Amino acid sequence: MYRFLTICSVLPLAVCCTKVVLSNDDGWAEKNVRTFYDDLVAAGDSVVLSAPADNESGTGSSDAPATTLDQPCEFNSCPAGSPPEGHDASNPRLNYVNSYPVTSMRYGIQTLSPTFFGGPPDIAVAGPNVGANLGSTVKISGTVGAATEAAKEGIPAIAFSGTTGSQISYTAAQQPYITVYGDLSTNVTQTLAATAKPYLPSNIWLNVNYPSVSSSTCSSPTKFKFVLSRINSAGSGTAADVNTCGSTRLPTETTVVNTSGCYASISVGVATTKGDATAAQQAVVLGKLKKLLSCLPS
Ligand SMILES: *[C@@H]1O[C@H](CO)[C@@H](O)[C@H](O)[C@H]1NC(C)=O
Ligand SMILES: *[C@@H]1O[C@H](CO)[C@@H](O)[C@H](O)[C@H]1NC(C)=O
Ligand SMILES: *[C@@H]1O[C@H](CO)[C@@H](O)[C@H](O)[C@H]1NC(C)=O
Repeated sequence: MYRFLTICSVLPLAVCCTKVVLSNDDGWAEKNVRTFYDDLVAAGDSVVLSAPADNESGTGSSDAPATTLDQPCEFNSCPAGSPPEGHDASNPRLNYVNSYPVTSMRYGIQTLSPTFFGGPPDIAVAGPNVGANLGSTVKISGTVGAATEAAKEGIPAIAFSGTTGSQISYTAAQQPYITVYGDLSTNVTQTLAATAKPYLPSNIWLNVNYPSVSSSTCSSPTKFKFVLSRINSAGSGTAADVNTCGSTRLPTETTVVNTSGCYASISVGVATTKGDATAAQQAVVLGKLKKLLSCLPS
């Protein structure tokens, strides 16, 4: 971790690392997002966390100016009376914003990123969310709200969500599901960021969901396979999807995550509508992530 920070600090900004803004909706002190932060840093990325001061789960694309804390941040991670935005005493890259996920993501992109990176981030990521965000749930998810906000601002974005767990403090003991979700999310982020820019077509975000993890099921990242999916079920009039796995109809993300055998879904979504992308947009993602992608068992 410190080795990467040292390398970053001696290189000119322009050639240093993948620059990542990270947010969520479960709050800046939730353990999933802190573990993902650590994993991205360990992978060599330059990362800034900009996430809500409190649990903002289910707040979709709500947006409001940040305000002074009238109570402590979640898990007592900042005292009542703290300013609208603030950071961890020992790491200025760990920032809270006392407002919604969208507001936090925008602060990360427009205010923190110029300070730490000298310009916009290369990519924005959100989560891993506590609980899956499948199908119509994307409309109310604050984690998806944060990712779609980034995409609307022209930053390639990925929302990550995992079925297992409840919200716990970053100071709590590490949990196997958090380790697995953090590893997998880092893998997807690094795989996309290793492709040519633009990482994603404009106005596109990726919606990634993981099935349950326990000591007996899907206990290691190596047990997972990623499958390209749709957010919503297709109707009879729905245009064809990209041709892959012998079909021009992708499985829904709900089907993928619900298939026995540790399948994680990657859907290609349109940020402004939170609906499914076109076959041409799906094809771009298929091309970029083909090393990661598998088919469901037939
Ligand atoms: C966070 O907010 C969601 C939605 O209101 C709620 O279901 C959940 O219980 C809250 N979590 C905690 C730890 O309060
Ligand atoms: C799939 O969904 C069904 C019904 O909701 C559930 O009983 C089953 O356990 C799920 N399977 C997996 C692998 O998640
Ligand atoms: C990423 O996931 C792929 C597919 O599961 C795997 O082959 C690869 O080793 C992983 N890479 C890293 C860095 O974890």
